[in-house]
Parts: sequence; structure tokens; C-alpha cells
Amino acid sequence: MIENRKKWQELLRQTRAYLEVLRDGGIVFAEGRFAKSTAGIEPPAAERVESAKAGRSRPMTAEERAALKAALTDPYARLVPRPPAAAGAPLAHPAATPIKRSRETSAPGPPAKPAKVTLKDRTEGAKVIAAAEDLERLRDLISGCYMCGLSAGRTHTVPGEGNPRAALMFIGEAPGYHEDVQGRPFVGRAGELLTKMIEAMGLRREDVYIANIVKCRPPGNRDPLPEEMLACEPYLKRQIELIRPKIICALGRIAIQGLLRETTPISQLRGQWRTYQNIPLMPTFHPAYLLRNPGGKRFAWEDLKAILARLGRPVPAGRSGP
Ligand code: URA
Repeated sequence: MIENRKKWQELLRQTRAYLEVLRDGGIVFAEGRFAKSTAGIEPPAAERVESAKAGRSRPMTAEERAALKAALTDPYARLVPRPPAAAGAPLAHPAATPIKRSRETSAPGPPAKPAKVTLKDRTEGAKVIAAAEDLERLRDLISGCYMCGLSAGRTHTVPGEGNPRAALMFIGEAPGYHEDVQGRPFVGRAGELLTKMIEAMGLRREDVYIANIVKCRPPGNRDPLPEEMLACEPYLKRQIELIRPKIICALGRIAIQGLLRETTPISQLRGQWRTYQNIPLMPTFHPAYLLRNPGGKRFAWEDLKAILARLGRPVPAGRSGP
């Protein structure tokens, strides 16, 4: 009974987050009713869809209902990007639109905001992300993404960088000012410290892969919102699937929340192995936190040494931390 209530609450939480993302894209599910059966949990009986702008509503199509039901089963896997449409051109599905490939960073400036993003677009887009054949394709999809409000304020997307076959992947929170300007992760002061941490392990930045929970800078460096993390998650999932690192190092509270949905303080979580998609994951302090609290560096060093041990690599002689 308690177990069912917990599942029900979690489903409700995920549903609300998902509906937030949809609302962001101009879609509102109206007259939603949440039904609880004696057998456990049933998806919401949302029957009508209305355009937030037009203020009109219509019955949900069978396809939309099926997509919503699927989204509720795994909301994180069914969010959709779409490349910006040229002015006046009909909105096209990403799979049908040739996307310009860029080896370097994405073109500066936010993509054009579409008139409307439909649930079908989102469902189809998630399939496109999941089918991205390599990191290059993923980078292109990210550069044209406007799935959440962060796209409006970005200069560059920051997909991530490093060795596509890295044994170790670092996952941070979100791009800051310098990352947004350069389109590269961890290039500001926190990035300098992360580089030192990597070098203290006897590695180089090019040996590892560095990515973030969200790929666009939140305004004023605020924490990314749950719906922004949710909207961006399919990209990170696919990055991890393509790289298949032996170990993930999650940097700070937001990385842990985004990956594991855990809200336990990082001071309690750090140093304790977890798993993400069957990959061992070590939570540790975020370099920005360590800049403010240098006393935490010795704990972070313990976590990095635990990673080295699990990778079967020696601690470089004479190193006692970053
Ligand atoms: N902090 C992060 O979490 N990521 C970056 O890319 C830079 C700073």
C-alpha cells in the first residue's frame, strides 16, 4: 500500500514535470484527471489538448493519448528537439530535415522559436536522439535544440568534449558564462580546477570526456530547473550510451539530482559508489564548491583515488591532491 502510494507520488511528480515541458512548447493538457485504481496506478485520463495561445481546446487524438501514456511510463526518454525552421517555412521533423554538420562549436545565437511544438514532434525527436549514430550527430541535434526555455538565452550550446572512447566521464551541472561564450565545458575558474583534478590523477583533459546535465547556460548561472534537466536528459543518456565509460564521476548536487534523482546532500553522498545505466558512478564535490571551500579538496581527492583504484590505475607518485 505504502509502496503503491510512493509510486503514485513519483508518477505524479514526473507527470507534472513533463506537462511543464509541454507547456513550455505551447501545449497544455486540459481537463486532466488522475485516476487511481485498486490495482495500483493508472495513467491520467487527460482528454483534451488546447493551444495555450489560441485558448481553444479539442479532444486528444488516439496518437496523442498513446504518446502521453508512453511518456508517463518513461517521460525522460520521450522529449523532442527539432531544428529551427526557416522563416515562413513549414515546421519539419528533424529526421526529415538535413542538419548542417559542424566540427566546431554550434553557430552563435539562439534558434528561432517555433510557432508550436507538438507532442508528436517531441516523441519523434526523442527517437532521433536515441538513434544518433555518433557524438557528432548528437552535437548537431543539440545545436538546433529549443526544447526548453534555456535555448532563448544562449550564445552557444555546450554539448561536451573529450575522448569519445574515454574510460572516465565527468558530468557537471550547466555551462556558465565562459562556457556559453566558447561552447566548451568547464573552461572558467571551476574548469581550471577540474583540469588540475584530472591532471592530479595522471590523466589529461583529452583522455576523459566532460559533459553537463544541461547543454545551455541558465540565466545568471542559476540552478537548472527540473523541467530543463528533464528536457536535456535524452542527450546525456545517448552520450553515455555512445561513450560507454567505465566510470562516471558526478560533480556536485545538480549532477546527482539529474542522473539519480537523489536529493541527499552531496556531503553525505560523495565517496559512495552508485550506478547509472549499469556504470559505476562516483559522486564528488563540484569544483566550484571546492573553490569556495578548499577544505573539501582532500575529500574530493579521496574520491578521485577511489576512481583510479577502480580503473586499475596507480596514484601518480608524489601526488597528494589537485
Ligand atoms: N560548471 C559546470 O557544472 N559546468 C561547466 O561546464 C562549467 C561550470
